[in-house]
Amino acid sequence: MTKQQTLSILKPNAVRKSLIGMINLRLEQARLNIVAMKMLHLTREQAAGFYAEHEGKPFFENLLKFMTSGPVVVQVLEGEDAITRYREVMGATDPSKALAGTIRYDFADSVTENAAHGSDSPESAAREIAYFFTPNEIFPK
Ligand code: PPS
Repeated sequence: MTKQQTLSILKPNAVRKSLIGMINLRLEQARLNIVAMKMLHLTREQAAGFYAEHEGKPFFENLLKFMTSGPVVVQVLEGEDAITRYREVMGATDPSKALAGTIRYDFADSVTENAAHGSDSPESAAREIAYFFTPNEIFPK
């Protein structure tokens, strides 16, 4: 196993429903340590840049509308196999397919309003972390 970092976003519906503490408790209990954290209200340009790979897909406009509908919490999580493990803790993108006990099973409202985002590969993690954080804003354990 390798120590990795991954980018997490607690999405606007999770923040609106005061779930920041609840979700982060689950992350820390899963040994996904929070080594960087900030609250932001994304602009349309920031959200479009972040989700550039989905531009042109039918859900893109809705995704931008939702992701700019309120503040989000962006975090860097660190731990053994953090990228895969965070995706397991989050559950499937579509909450109707997520396993019981996962963040999305418990807290997502729909495939768009699915409470949390996690990077899907080491390459995405590197790009997504650098999108929101400078190296001196990250405090590895
Ligand atoms: S895809 O289409 O297979 O590339 O989708 P995926 O990589 O699983 O992630 C898609 C992200 O877009 C958000 N989103 C939707 N996905 C699929 N269908 C619909 N209708 C949809 N609406 C929004 C989804 O929440 C994923 O966001 P992130 O932040 O990456 O989890």
